[in-house]
Amino acid sequence: MKTLIDLITEQVTNAFTGQGYDAKYGKVTLSNRPDLCEYQCNGAMAAAKEYKCAPFMISDKIAQALAENELFESVESVKPGFINLKVKGEFLADYLKEMAADEKLSVSAAKEPKTIIIDYGGPNVAKPLHVGHLRSAVIGESVKRIAKFMGHNVIGDVHLGDWGLQMGLIITELRERKPDLVYFDESYTGEYPKEAPFTISELEDIYPTASGKSKSDESFKEAALLATKELQGGRRGYQALLSHIMNVSVTDLKRNYENLNVHFELWKGESDAQPYVPGMVEMMKEKGFAHMSEGALVVDVKEDTDTKEIPPCIILKSDGASLYSTTDLATLVMRMKENNPDRVIYLADARQSMHFIQVFRCARKTGIVPDTTELVHIGFGTMNGKDGKPFKTRDGGVMRLEYLLKEIDDEMLNKIKENQKEKENLNIDEAEAEQTAKTVALAAVKYGDLSNQASKDYIFDIDRFTSFEGNTGPYILYTIVRIKSILSKYEAKGGDISALKDAIMPAVNAGQKNLMLSLAKFNATIESAYEESAPHKICAYIYELANAFNGFYHDTKILSEENEELKKSYISLLVLTKEILEACIDMLGFSAPDRM
Ligand code: ARG
Repeated sequence: MKTLIDLITEQVTNAFTGQGYDAKYGKVTLSNRPDLCEYQCNGAMAAAKEYKCAPFMISDKIAQALAENELFESVESVKPGFINLKVKGEFLADYLKEMAADEKLSVSAAKEPKTIIIDYGGPNVAKPLHVGHLRSAVIGESVKRIAKFMGHNVIGDVHLGDWGLQMGLIITELRERKPDLVYFDESYTGEYPKEAPFTISELEDIYPTASGKSKSDESFKEAALLATKELQGGRRGYQALLSHIMNVSVTDLKRNYENLNVHFELWKGESDAQPYVPGMVEMMKEKGFAHMSEGALVVDVKEDTDTKEIPPCIILKSDGASLYSTTDLATLVMRMKENNPDRVIYLADARQSMHFIQVFRCARKTGIVPDTTELVHIGFGTMNGKDGKPFKTRDGGVMRLEYLLKEIDDEMLNKIKENQKEKENLNIDEAEAEQTAKTVALAAVKYGDLSNQASKDYIFDIDRFTSFEGNTGPYILYTIVRIKSILSKYEAKGGDISALKDAIMPAVNAGQKNLMLSLAKFNATIESAYEESAPHKICAYIYELANAFNGFYHDTKILSEENEELKKSYISLLVLTKEILEACIDMLGFSAPDRM
């Protein structure tokens, strides 16, 4: 469906051209004075300069031309030359009826679906997820769901950090702890055990210990470097250990992401790209893109128009080892071959922006990625504590994501129990309370994050995020729960929700009109959230919509309305509001409970 603002703009533009003015002056925007009008056009102000007359002469003519137009309840020309518009009730009601009947609630699916790879999550194998991994997962999942809703073919890839020194560190530490394991016996030729020689909690202890040792103990570090080299060179026992490390760690990561309602289509890692490295390096040398500089193999990526220094992209270190950029480039070779995407979107900390500039330029210059494939880095800001510094545990350590979520779950459970005491008719048992607490806690965390523009730093404020009031996830869920409760009361009294087709009528009060106008903005919101990869636009929209709904609810008797037609019209607005809010929170990656 066309957006409401486009339909309005069409009419106003026709009025401008009909009066002999250029079409470009017919642009309509949302009103910045909602007390005066719903939409506005300021085109007469600009047109006055071109046509050398007073702006109100033009706005008067346009208002007259639109006076009988069936889209508008009123069109006012206001000095010095503004055009204030109000939408006609019948037209708006018809628009909402069409929305309600539309499978995608008015959003037009992409005519030519694109293949989009979203590279997000980016956890490192054998290290527990910490708060630094939250934003990539939460924003990436939402960006993916928005693109899917728009009808694109979207592939989420977790892109595990599973290559490099960390593996050698783990193997070396494991060898010190359990030297008799068969994996270390080079003369062994039999099959290796299926069972991993460690649990996830051991693994989570092994890595930080090893990493600590490598900083203070030179010989340990050397052993780890050697183990890494041997592993990458194909040493059997180490390869078998690697697959145990991967299995144990990936099982744990999957469980953690599951709890976050984050799901990946692909569980590939940096190691999957390594087979593409030699061919890629060869190509870069052969075609003259790569040259030696201070012992390393590099590709120059600076451009004449650069205003800051863009260092060359390093392809191989002087010892011939590959780096983060090598892996990302080889991953692009793999992705082009396997998926041939139209767009690849990376979710990674904004502090990695130089890395992505270098990689993207190098990929284009060397022809790894054609001009028709777009490469995008969504660089997100830092999640800070209330002190404005990067979020830490109380004792200053790095907070494990699992613990943080647990803390919020507990906080939410308390709130739900308190809420229940106030409303004695809510008989929620312990199991439901716990489940609900989890659902609401997830909404609190995700909304708290997603409601900020991704590139900005934000303050992770548990008290604010878990509040049932204000611009929060729980407030949105509370609104949905309120609607669900009214609808189930309506059904309990014999009302049939499925028989409400075409029941929406023109608004009878200001609160209802406001709600209807807000509902009508759904498609425009989703389209721009998609274009700009901006989930925060959906958050801002549902906050507006929830407020509009609660305003309407406050002003209007719904279930006790005696006029049956009017009551049906209200109920169908409730159904539409619920469907839109639910579609939105699904795109944000959370859901609503039935009661709370
Ligand atoms: N594993 C990386 C890290 O922890 C993030 C990976 C981001 N994705 C990418 N293709 N570089 O910083």
